[in-house]
Amino acid sequence: MKNREDQDRHLPFSLPAGVQLGAATAATQIEGGEVVHSWSRWADLGHTKDGSRCSPACDHWNRIAEDTALLAEVGCTTYRFSVEWARIEPARGVFDQTAIDHYRAEVVALNDAGILPLLTLHHFTNPLWFEDSGGWLREDSPEIFAEFVAHVVRNLGDLVAEWIVINEPNVYLFSGFTIGEWPPAHRSMRDFLIGARNLIRAHKRCYLTIHAMRRELGRDDTLVGTAIHIRPFDPYGGNPLDRLVAAGFNHLFHDMFLEGVVRGRFILPLRGDSATDRVAYRELRRRAGATGRYSDFVGINYYSREMIQFALGGQLPFGRIVQSSGPDRNELGWEIFPEGLYRAVKSSYQRYRIPVYITENGTCDADDRFRARYLYEHLFQVARLATEGVDVRRYYHWTLMDNFEWAEGVAARFGLIHVDFGTQVRTVRDSGRFYARISRERGVTPACLDEFTDALRHRGVLGSGLP
Ligand code: FCB
Repeated sequence: MKNREDQDRHLPFSLPAGVQLGAATAATQIEGGEVVHSWSRWADLGHTKDGSRCSPACDHWNRIAEDTALLAEVGCTTYRFSVEWARIEPARGVFDQTAIDHYRAEVVALNDAGILPLLTLHHFTNPLWFEDSGGWLREDSPEIFAEFVAHVVRNLGDLVAEWIVINEPNVYLFSGFTIGEWPPAHRSMRDFLIGARNLIRAHKRCYLTIHAMRRELGRDDTLVGTAIHIRPFDPYGGNPLDRLVAAGFNHLFHDMFLEGVVRGRFILPLRGDSATDRVAYRELRRRAGATGRYSDFVGINYYSREMIQFALGGQLPFGRIVQSSGPDRNELGWEIFPEGLYRAVKSSYQRYRIPVYITENGTCDADDRFRARYLYEHLFQVARLATEGVDVRRYYHWTLMDNFEWAEGVAARFGLIHVDFGTQVRTVRDSGRFYARISRERGVTPACLDEFTDALRHRGVLGSGLP
């Protein structure tokens, strides 16, 4: 067993040529502006912990040039971001050209800066016309969403090759439909399962739609996936009941979604595609020239793990989450556990044998006390995976700059760049400089270790949530 001092010694490492570094954001979390959608309404009803609203956030809508320059400054050669559905389609079938023009200009700015875009189409937020008519519980929700997606591809498909259809369907459904802490605030396992089926159906339909439309544009470089949040559930004790409950959660939270979006399979207890879906897929597959699969890469968002104990009457059916014995946590109380990233990526690669994109990884650390070390330890795992032959191609740090962190509000700071929300002044943190160095030098060099010795000494805080 390594002792703490051994763990504190850092070794240089190189990143293999195939791994590209970037940052990830989401429209609702950075753009600001008085846009009406499920999250702005939720925040305005007072559901964020610090009372913050979705606007101004980072006022990114008005600061594309500045923020693109910052992406380059912190070493990003690729950028994962999202479009806001409610801006583009404010009423069903009504599309706002100014919103499209804006996103086109943003993509052009990225391309001009040599930053490869990875565009997310759904990142937690719905327009109210969709949300209030049943949203993701509607049987026809996949068709409705695919109409929006087709509009985006029609308008941006010549500039964007890589797409994430849905961000974290598992977290979205768990938070919004099972524990009711996010909109639409349902508390129902049944709704979780209906939503899971519909989001997987939407993913499949959009995967084929994007391929078909870009093929018709003469493009053959299309890559489509969905980002799944992997938060390994480990049994708390050696007790077989703990193991059983942990396996059940891994099935419902991870495997069900991975199987759905990668292989297009609905595993128990999900019902399968509808007859209409099957007809639509057949036609789209013909246009797309697609093979049987439904993802070109596995997108993994990884932050932490959870320890699960069997319990009746716990937060979850037959179980509860208990704090692990791991000593290091971030400011939200999430265990810092880099080995979990290794395990998540390795097991999905072994299972699916398609490239892995780490579509999010990062930590909440307002004073930048341990983010550099977090980066070091997680990128070390990326290098380790690559040397073991795992085809991991991207690492997107969550996140470029402090932003609106959903129910936590703006108090939870995950950025490589500090944002003063009053003045909108951005300041690159030491960890941001560290990340830029790693990206430029393609790894962590001895000189870089010397320069960042102090930053790398700090482990996570023993936090259990923001005050
Ligand atoms: C992920 C979300 C992202 C951000 C990070 C901290 O679950 O996809 O929007 O909130 O967590």
